[in-house]
Amino acid sequence: MSSQISDSLPQLKLTIEEAAQKITQGGVVAIPTETVYGLAADASQPEALKRIFSIKARPADHPLIVHIGSIDQIKDWARDIPEMLWPLAKRFWPGPLTVILKKQPHVSEIITGGQDTIALRIPNHPKALQLLVALKCGLAAPSANSFGRVSPTSAQHVIDELGDDIDGIVDGGDCTVGIESTILDLSVVKTNSEMPKILRPGQICQQAIQDCIGSTLSTARQQTTRAPGMLKAHYAPQTPLLLLKKSVLESQLKDYLAQGLKVNLWSVSRPIIEHDNLFWQQSSVDSGEFARKLYHQLRLFDSSQADITLIQRPQGLSDWEGVLDRLERAGASFSQDIWLNKSPKEQS
Ligand code: TXA
Ligand code: MG
Repeated sequence: MSSQISDSLPQLKLTIEEAAQKITQGGVVAIPTETVYGLAADASQPEALKRIFSIKARPADHPLIVHIGSIDQIKDWARDIPEMLWPLAKRFWPGPLTVILKKQPHVSEIITGGQDTIALRIPNHPKALQLLVALKCGLAAPSANSFGRVSPTSAQHVIDELGDDIDGIVDGGDCTVGIESTILDLSVVKTNSEMPKILRPGQICQQAIQDCIGSTLSTARQQTTRAPGMLKAHYAPQTPLLLLKKSVLESQLKDYLAQGLKVNLWSVSRPIIEHDNLFWQQSSVDSGEFARKLYHQLRLFDSSQADITLIQRPQGLSDWEGVLDRLERAGASFSQDIWLNKSPKEQS
């Protein structure tokens, strides 16, 4: 990381009052949430919303989440609200749950990507909540990264990637959850006999949602491709990534090193092999800690200039749903076969 980049953090840092003022004036400001940093603008200002898309290089049909400061604001954005929203909101908000509901007619198409629905969440970060209270408006905020890349979990990550393009940042420290919110589609629930669907897994797992609403979620395949969480390759690091079972990890590692490749390895135990071309970091057996470190680790691995990153596939139950989803998507563009007996420079 260059000192020039690091030095720009103090200049971009804003107090809550300064951030509120910039946003009111149509600015785009990076804000902390408990999941990942967001790129925030006033959800009622079309020009500011357009800037979010241009800063992220995000296609216009990928809708934005509107962050609100209290449950009372839901009706300002959504209509035909199913009864089961209220126990969910009470149980999980503020927190890492985003709900999809039918939108109010006034909601800008820029936010919804032309869909008839709106994504809402109350984030659980003191600075985000202070800002929402100060502003009293909805804040449209996607993750503060370029489209398709790894989400930022610290102010420095945002500065490194988008520092030149934003109007400032509220530094709220490292994100405590570390992966994006669980997205639950409630817009399909017209009566209490139709069940919502999870569009993007996260820290709040299927079982916890089911326990809250007292019924089983629909697992029918989602038809829309408009949630990037549904795109197969997403959350992508620059270094090719392979997710491997513990049983094959050491042998694959040996093969790649024998081919002269530089390898990043994130695994629970130190590998038996030691090698100058191996950069090993220890992963956690705790899903919360793994999630908290995941995006930082992927960024660190990208900066190590290795040819390939190997990650030990975590074994676990429902608390790993979100992490496994991100790991699989982060590795989805890279096939294991293409790496065997071929140097990365030969890859097209
Ligand atoms: O944790 C999070 O959710 C973070 C923080 C900043 O709140 N935000 C975030 O935003 O991850 P973004 O834009 O990177 O991902 C939001 C996801 C996208 O997959 C988007 O397509 C989906 O939510 N989404 C938004 N509105 C939707 C809608 N009306 N219907 C279906 N999916 C929607
Ligand atoms: Mg995102």
